[in-house]
Amino acid sequence: NKRKESAMIVSQEYIGADIYSMWIQTEEIASLAVPGQFISMYTKDGSKLLPRPISLCEIDRDRKLIRVVYRVTGEGTGTEQFSELIKGDWIDILGPLGNGFPLDKAEGKKAMLIGGGIGVPPMLELAKQLDTEKVLVMGYRDEQFLADEFSICGNFYVATEDGSAGTKGNVMDAIAANDLSADIIYACGPAPMLRAIKQYAEEKNIVCYVSMEERMACGIGACLACVCKSREIDSHSHVHNKRVCKDGPVFLSTEVEI
Ligand code: FAD
Ligand code: FES
Repeated sequence: NKRKESAMIVSQEYIGADIYSMWIQTEEIASLAVPGQFISMYTKDGSKLLPRPISLCEIDRDRKLIRVVYRVTGEGTGTEQFSELIKGDWIDILGPLGNGFPLDKAEGKKAMLIGGGIGVPPMLELAKQLDTEKVLVMGYRDEQFLADEFSICGNFYVATEDGSAGTKGNVMDAIAANDLSADIIYACGPAPMLRAIKQYAEEKNIVCYVSMEERMACGIGACLACVCKSREIDSHSHVHNKRVCKDGPVFLSTEVEI
């Protein structure tokens, strides 16, 4: 169900902390996408053949638009190239990729959405689509982004490493400081954060889905660059590895080793 499209950039905006927000006009990708899925974005430069996996931050099905919010990781990178594109420019994208968050599991439950760093953007569309009681906990290094948009989606808590806003520390510190609880957790962020959340959820017996932002190459399940260890053992006692790009990026926390 994925498409390769040459898509037009509708807007590009710098939103702070080396982060850019881009709206892209798609033909079909927006209508096929669900929260937690991602697209592969291609650079123009032939020496950078590998596409960059970037999560969908918002999906506007009616207008067939998708929004990506991404960090420029350094000079001469593919993400720097994306940040230089302006309204009316074109970009090759492939998607939607990956499985996405299961929304139905939260029905009638209190959900906690946790994002850290560049794991924050995909939680926005999830927050918009989850029609249940929810608490949102986002962790930033310093400068916050998307905060206004989260604060209208539910009870919103912030952690910053430098203490400039919310709880000083990480998302687990914000959960403890505010005595937050939930029946189901959805999380996306760096591995140490997901590891801590997985442990917390298992101790408290909370169903927990984690979205892993593993390094990827092909993005479509063909090269095995992105495998992670799963708890599944096959009939020959071999650990069954999972491809983050195709089997994930969203997994039940008990299913994978982080
Ligand atoms: P370069 O140094 O030019 O990249 C070189 C190569 O390494 C490229 O092929 C690149 O894809 C790969 N690479 C480098 N770092 C990473 C990384 N951390 N993860 C995966 N591949 C990497 N970032 C955001 O800012 N916003 C998002 O919404 C977002 N969603 C993601 C969703 C998924 C499923 C994954 C796997 C990653 C996501 N990332 C996101 C991370 C993003 O893909 C990397 O920051 C980006 O690929 C780095 O590319 P570059 O051009 O800046 O760096
Ligand atoms: Fe190639 Fe996942 S990136 S299999």
